Amino acid sequence: MADITWELFHRQVEACNLCPLYHGILHKVPGQGDPASPLMFIGEGPGQTEDEQGLAFVGAAGQLLTRMLDAISLPRERVYICNIVKCRPPNNRVPLPEEISACMMHLRMQTLLVHPKVIVLLGSTAARATLGNEIRITRDRGVWQQRKGVWMLPTYHPSALLRDASKKKDAWTDMQALRDKLKELHLYPDLYPS
Ligand code: URA
Repeated sequence: MADITWELFHRQVEACNLCPLYHGILHKVPGQGDPASPLMFIGEGPGQTEDEQGLAFVGAAGQLLTRMLDAISLPRERVYICNIVKCRPPNNRVPLPEEISACMMHLRMQTLLVHPKVIVLLGSTAARATLGNEIRITRDRGVWQQRKGVWMLPTYHPSALLRDASKKKDAWTDMQALRDKLKELHLYPDLYPS
């Protein structure tokens, strides 16, 4: 098997036609951030602003995510951010199971390359695609699960917080749990000294 490299990953995403989502998009949105970050965020799929710019989480939900990171003193450039699917679904609909399956090879490659110690799953689509369909975000958010040595935390998607402000309290609890885990694992010693 060819060595996995970032160059190969980006070439494969750019050339991908494994599902129909690439029809009608402006840009693929592979993900961006620190390519060797100990912490990875996974969302659902690009929205309109992300499709226009080719960057993940740069619209309203992304700006809220940046503020949530700021609230735990974590600069956005220090994390890696991507989505379950790399192409914008039409009208921002939830990606179909076959689109998620087709795109999973890209996420797998990306996870091998970043090699994160902690993954935050933003919303139901990311949590279910990663941890299994039995996940219910309202029930399971904030509960750490360890998979193949990686700590995973499902939480609300920032778009859900924009739609329903009453969820923000739980989301803040989850961000504090994230900060505590990063500190416990000594992952950002310059940001969270022990
Ligand atoms: N919602 C997502 O799930 N991902 C983005 O990149 C933007 C909005």
